[in-house]
Amino acid sequence: MAESMKGLKRTHRCTEVTKEMIGSKVTLMGWVQKRRNLGSLVFVDLRDRSGLIQLYFEEETIGKEGFEKAVSLHSEYVIAAEGIVEQRSGAFNESLKTGELEIRVQSLRILSESLTPPFPVDADITVKDDLRLKYRYLDLRRPNIQRNLIMRSKIAMLTRQFLAGEGFLEIETPMLTKSTPEGARDYLVPSRIHPGSFYALPQSPQIFKQLLMVSGYDRYFQLAKCFRDEDLRADRQPEFTQIDMELSFVDVDDVIDVNERLLAFLFKECLNHEVSLPIPRMTWQEAMDRFGSDKPDLRFDMEIQDVSDLVKDCGFGVFTGALEAGGTVRALCARGLGDVSSKKMKNIEKSAKDYGAKGLAYIQLKSDGGMKCPFAKFVSEDFLESVIRFLGAEQGDLVVFAADKFKVVCDVLGALRLKFADELGLIDKDLYRFVWITEFPLLEWSEEEGRYTAMHHPFTMPMEEDLAFIDDDPGRVRAKAYDIVLNGTELGGGSVRIHQDDIQEKMFECLGFTKEQAHERFGFLLTAFKYGVPPHAGLAYGLDRLVMLMAKEDSIRDVIAFPKIKDASCLMTSAPDVVDQKQLDELSIQIVPQT
Ligand code: AMO
Ligand code: AMP
Repeated sequence: MAESMKGLKRTHRCTEVTKEMIGSKVTLMGWVQKRRNLGSLVFVDLRDRSGLIQLYFEEETIGKEGFEKAVSLHSEYVIAAEGIVEQRSGAFNESLKTGELEIRVQSLRILSESLTPPFPVDADITVKDDLRLKYRYLDLRRPNIQRNLIMRSKIAMLTRQFLAGEGFLEIETPMLTKSTPEGARDYLVPSRIHPGSFYALPQSPQIFKQLLMVSGYDRYFQLAKCFRDEDLRADRQPEFTQIDMELSFVDVDDVIDVNERLLAFLFKECLNHEVSLPIPRMTWQEAMDRFGSDKPDLRFDMEIQDVSDLVKDCGFGVFTGALEAGGTVRALCARGLGDVSSKKMKNIEKSAKDYGAKGLAYIQLKSDGGMKCPFAKFVSEDFLESVIRFLGAEQGDLVVFAADKFKVVCDVLGALRLKFADELGLIDKDLYRFVWITEFPLLEWSEEEGRYTAMHHPFTMPMEEDLAFIDDDPGRVRAKAYDIVLNGTELGGGSVRIHQDDIQEKMFECLGFTKEQAHERFGFLLTAFKYGVPPHAGLAYGLDRLVMLMAKEDSIRDVIAFPKIKDASCLMTSAPDVVDQKQLDELSIQIVPQT
């Protein structure tokens, strides 16, 4: 039976009770983590969001009725207990903050009972993901996820504090809006008043924040909900939160400077970790050449090496053919993987193909002095020796080669680099390795669409020194765009924006938009720019990703209170769901059954 808390007031959270309070009376409220019945004594671990404290009940103190009530407690019952703080009479529990203390309970109320939970609310128990998410409200009681959400709240508060101190204003932008230019699929919301018309949920506040610069707000930020209908991965959710900002009268270095100080502040305050500033910068080209990725994990070495020059006359068609087709041949040497089994090697080849390779040439230098190299029959011994020497490979090492277009070679070797590092245990999980990636290509050729698309978005400023190539060789133009990368994850990205009409027009032209199309999509922004636009630049972090990395979690799901699963549904609420015919009628929507 549920009792009320009338006349009671909680005095402390469980772990706010300290040694200095021994002898004083407290009123605690929370959930029963565990009850142990020792005949004349009942022990209960009481839990609230701060942690645990031990309560004990004896008939002498609490009376017969109270004692019986204590005996009847079960896990997850919600109780209020009034009692005296005492030093523990039994052994101290070193692992608990309140491990030296216990409460001699004088009165107990059961505020509500609980069904037996589908899984124990305990940090150390592995529970299947589906079950956790179906009963997310119970999962959220577990200390590890609580720690993450508490850290998330702290990071959000500190971000606001820091940015406010730097003169930023927090301004909200609409959720019901028009399609934004980030390039994923939109989530659409039908309009009742305008049948057949739809709002788009924002993929980012990009256009609005640029308009705020036109309006003169000069430093804006927002913790903004963003929506993108894209395939989900461990670091992607259909709705997520950005720390979004925009600044006027600045260039790349100004944005980088304020953000480096923000990151250093957050890591210091939350983790007592010193980020050494300045954070290193690497151009996109260098990152791709050395690590095969625009978000290189710098916690370990293992760099890609270009062997194109070396192999150009080697006689092996796979290599020479790739070069003749304008591609490249590059290699990766994984120290200590030379003795992998044939089965494992097949598995590596399969991974390479999954990443886009047509095949994977390799040299296995075994520890016992032997060698396995399926393409050895096509090349001379001297050639093999010279490649091995060039790469600095030794017995016990595995060398893999990718021969293809630059992008494919980078994708394959970049992904294998991560796979090998994982297998070899090269990644020190305690390191935080930041890097700025700069000078991204402005445009990216899309095979699918048969045209260039913006690598960042269409408002990104080309580098002045590359403007000359924009007509004849647009793929060569670099952008004033930058990403902040941490441990191989893209934490955030931004750019200097175009504020000159002629450059913007040129950009739309490169993207294959006609004037009319550009105006249809972004006309209000282009018009706004005619009324005095300051030079401006900005950046947005994925807050979820930042918290995930700071909390050392592998998925952003563990730092979001109510996340969605891979198919973008919510196991707890069953969203998305069908709606009443009446609602559909009001929205003039007719469902066409899928055949
Ligand atoms: P961008 O598209 O790079 O830039 O997004 C910025 C950051 O948002 C995070 N992010 C995501 N996090 C979780 N789930 C997702 N589906 C997801 N998609 C993106 C990433 C990413 O680095 N308007 C520009 C920023 C700007 O130019 O100022 C933008 O949105 O951490
Ligand atoms: P093939 O001539 O297709 O039988 O390939 C000979 C060897 O080269 C095999 O070990 C293939 O896995 C490998 N190979 C094929 N294509 C490529 C490629 N694009 N890059 C690297 N190795 C490849």
